[in-house]
Amino acid sequence: MSYAPKEVDLVIRGAQVVSPEQIIPASVAIAGERIVAVGHDDCMPPARQEMRADGLFLLPGAIDSHVHFRDPGYPHKETWKTGSAAAACGGVTTVFEMPNTNPPTGTLEALALKLKAAESSYVDYGIHGLLGDDTIANLEQLLEGGVSSFKAFVGNTFGNLPAPTDGALLEGFEILAPLGIRTVVHAENSSIMARRQGQLQAAGRIDPLAHLDARPAVAEIEAIGRVLTLAEWTGARVHIAHHSAADSLFLLRQAKARGVDVTAETCPQYMLLNTEHMRKLAGVMRVNPPIREPRHNQPLWDALVEGVLDMIATDHAPHTPEEKTRANIWECDCGFPGVETQMPLMLTEINKGRASLMDYVKWSSVNPAKAWGLYGTKGVIAVGAHADIAFVDMARAGTLSQGRLQSISKISPWHGRSVQGYPIHTLLRGRFVMRDGHLVTDAAGWGRNIKPIQKMPTPKPRNTEHYSGAIVKASAHESQS
Ligand code: NCD
Ligand code: ZN
Repeated sequence: MSYAPKEVDLVIRGAQVVSPEQIIPASVAIAGERIVAVGHDDCMPPARQEMRADGLFLLPGAIDSHVHFRDPGYPHKETWKTGSAAAACGGVTTVFEMPNTNPPTGTLEALALKLKAAESSYVDYGIHGLLGDDTIANLEQLLEGGVSSFKAFVGNTFGNLPAPTDGALLEGFEILAPLGIRTVVHAENSSIMARRQGQLQAAGRIDPLAHLDARPAVAEIEAIGRVLTLAEWTGARVHIAHHSAADSLFLLRQAKARGVDVTAETCPQYMLLNTEHMRKLAGVMRVNPPIREPRHNQPLWDALVEGVLDMIATDHAPHTPEEKTRANIWECDCGFPGVETQMPLMLTEINKGRASLMDYVKWSSVNPAKAWGLYGTKGVIAVGAHADIAFVDMARAGTLSQGRLQSISKISPWHGRSVQGYPIHTLLRGRFVMRDGHLVTDAAGWGRNIKPIQKMPTPKPRNTEHYSGAIVKASAHESQS
C-alpha cells in the first residue's frame, strides 16, 4: 500500500527559519491554523498553495505585551480595528491590551465592552485587567471572564487611574500568587511625581524637559524596589512595564538571582531616543516614564542582551496630532504609537550588528510567549504551534513615515527615520493578515482571545529565605529589649 501524504494548505519554501538557537534553511508546511512540518524542502507534503520566500527570514510573529487600543472610551485616538491593523502590518501577531480605557477594565461590565470591541481585531490578543483598590474584589471574576493577566498603574499616567495603595497591591498579589497569574506594573512613584510636577508648574515651567524633571529616575527605582519586595514576599509573578532607567536594572538583576519570578520589558524609544531628540520633538515624545538622558540608552540594550530585561514591548499609546503638539508640555497627552514601527526599528539595529536575529526573536516573541503562558503554541516555528509568522526582508530599506501608519495616531517620533529590515508578510494562525506590505482587510476579526490557550506554569512555593532571616533577627532584637 502506498503512503500518500495528506494535502496541506500552504507550504513556504526557500526561507530561513529563526529561533533563539539557530537560523536554518527550512520549508514550513501549514494545515489549518497550525504548523505541521518544518524541514528539508524534499520532505514537504503536497499543498494547495505553494509560496516561495527566497531570501526572507521567518520569525515567530512578534508578541507585544503592552498596547493601548483605546476602545471603549477614546475611539478618536484608536480602535481595535486600527490598532490591530497596525500590529498586523508591524509583524505582530499577538498583543496584550491595557485596561486604562473608559470604563477601565476592572469590572465584568467593562470587560464585556472590551471583548466586544476586540471582536474586530486582526491579531490575537490577551487582555490585562485592572488591579486597583476598587477592583481587588473582582480579580477572580475577571479571570473567569477572559482576562489573561493584570495591570497596576503604580505611577500615574494617561487615564488618571489612581495608583493602588500599597495595601491593595499586596492584597492583589496575595490573591494572584497561588493562581500563577502575572501582573504588569507601571512602576513609577506617583507621590514623588505629583509633588515635583506641582513645583515645576508653580515655577512656570512649560518646556519639554520639565516633563523629565517631574519624573526623575528615582521615582522608577523606588517603585520597582517596592513592587519587587511585595512580589517576593507573596510569591506573585510580576512584569515591569516600559523599563526606562539604567539605574534600576540592578534591582531586576538581584531579584532574578534570588528567584523572584519577574519579567521586564523595555521599548525601542528608551534605547534609541534621548533628551537630545526632545528639543526638536517636544510633546510628540512626551511619554511615561519619560525618555531620559543619553547615558540610559546603551545600558538598556546591554540588559536585553544579558537577559536582565526579557523583551521588547512598544507601549503603543496613540493620541491625535492635536493632542501631542500643544505649546505647554503639561497639556500634551503622554504616549505615542509604536506597534507598527518596533520591528523595522529593531531590525535596523540588528543589521548594524548590535545583536543577532536569534537574540531578537527571544525579545520579540519567545520570552513574551513564556511570560504569558503561550510558549509552544506561540513564540516558536515548530510542528504543532500556531502558524504565526513574520516574513522579514533584512535587505529592504526605507524611511518611516507617520502618514502611512495604520494607526489613527498619525504622529510619531520615528517619522523620517531611516530603517533597514521590514516585515513584509504576516501570517496569523495560517491566514495572511498582511501581504506584500499591505493589510489584508478582510482578515479583520480573525484575531482571537488567547485565554483558552494560556497555560501559566504552576507557581513554585514561596521562597521565604530572604525574609525569614530578617524576621528572626527582628524578633531576637525585640525579646532582648
Ligand atoms: C500610556 C497611555 O497613553 O495610555 N501613556 C504613556 O505615556 N505611556 C499609559 C502608560 O502606559 O503609562
Ligand atoms: Zn505605563
